[in-house]
Amino acid sequence: MSATVAEAAQKTTTSARLFRDSKAAFPTGFRWGTATSSYQIEGAVNEDGRGPSIWDRFTHLPGKIIDHSTADVANDHYHRYKEDVQLIKELGAKAYRFSIAWPRVFPEGSGTPNAKGLDFYQRLLDELLANGIEPFATLYHWDLPQGIQDRYDGWRSRDTAKAFADYAGYVTERISDRVKHIFTINECARLVQAGFGTGIDAPGLNLPQKEINQVRHHVALGHGLAVQAIRAHGRSGTRVGPAENMEICIPAIETPANIRAAETATRELNAGYLTAILEGKYTDAFLAYAGANAPSFTPDDLKAIASPIDFVGINVYMPNQYVVAGENGNPFALLPFAATYPHMDSNWLRIGPEAMYWAPRHVARLWNVKSIYITENGTSAADQPSADGKVYDIERIMYLRNYLTQLQRATSEGVPVNGYFLWSLMDNFEWSDGYDKRFGLYHVNFETQQRTPKLSASFYREVIKQNAVV
Ligand code: NOJ
Repeated sequence: MSATVAEAAQKTTTSARLFRDSKAAFPTGFRWGTATSSYQIEGAVNEDGRGPSIWDRFTHLPGKIIDHSTADVANDHYHRYKEDVQLIKELGAKAYRFSIAWPRVFPEGSGTPNAKGLDFYQRLLDELLANGIEPFATLYHWDLPQGIQDRYDGWRSRDTAKAFADYAGYVTERISDRVKHIFTINECARLVQAGFGTGIDAPGLNLPQKEINQVRHHVALGHGLAVQAIRAHGRSGTRVGPAENMEICIPAIETPANIRAAETATRELNAGYLTAILEGKYTDAFLAYAGANAPSFTPDDLKAIASPIDFVGINVYMPNQYVVAGENGNPFALLPFAATYPHMDSNWLRIGPEAMYWAPRHVARLWNVKSIYITENGTSAADQPSADGKVYDIERIMYLRNYLTQLQRATSEGVPVNGYFLWSLMDNFEWSDGYDKRFGLYHVNFETQQRTPKLSASFYREVIKQNAVV
């Protein structure tokens, strides 16, 4: 080899090494996936024996959905699931989180099951597995059967928790030969606050605090009883956990005292659900603060709520609180957000990539959790195809790159995050925002049902391919 060629080769290896070293790589075997939910994509609300859900009822009330839309058709995924599985495959993603619609399986919520309802998910599972994609199933992503709402008053009654566990056991028995990871309930915090507090989500109630706390207790109980049912009916190797949008508390400045304060704040601000699941009790501060509004519960309830889980799933979108150490005996102080604090296309979606570092770190540190999944992360953006038909969603790429960099910080420090599910595979029905907010890697034209990959789909494909932030 001539000197110059050798020098050049030497230079290339050095720069290649530098390049590799500077890459923010994830652990080998890290699961990359995307996420959706039944009501947001399936459509076909009256097909094959599906019963009505509280969201069908809600979307048909005037004034509830910003663009006056419904999810009667949504992404028509019920008929197009094969095409949609190909979209996942094209990303190179090896995992997919979807949810099962309770009212397809039990049209009345309990009683006689509808075989055709579960058949749909069996077909979906076949398709996923045939394409080398591992299914992660959520059992409840808010589409409560209307029958359960009518008979039991929904989550205001503990009967709903029991009915949920029955449904969970029934489904688990039939899918756990092929689904290893099962999530119980998606986002208790949101479903309680928006469904029963502000009323912007179904069932659209505006209850006093005591009743809100009671609803949350029933949801927590539903989670716990479902964990038991899943264990009783699942094949060996079935793994179960929640998928929660925990309150994420971030030390405003990373000092040891502020970090401790942020941990304490995380424990207390999640005391009604995640902390109860992981500790088997409501914290003293939670009960003292709730006072007469505390939920009624029994010691057995708490035992059920704390049924052992295999992992914690967390949906991470934004910082909920910036925290500093408290003064005058207060363990922490929550800092106010200025009205000008930056957000993405959805007003509520504050930008704060470090939420993606602190959320799993707090879960691991506070409760010694050994396996964590990021069950959702992503952003809305006002994506429109340009003249050439392509969607250049650079703001989504900006958001994702920054959040993933923080996730890599966590994994590189040993925080046990095993996978990440990007919300969402494709634009879909964004609850009370209708089709007005787009979260997808694929743009969907809801007139024609055409799916078009956005630039962020190429970005994510590259992340997956390199197992690193790119
Ligand atoms: C969390 C919810 O689980 C999902 O249904 C929703 O679409 C996304 N956040 C975006 O708001």
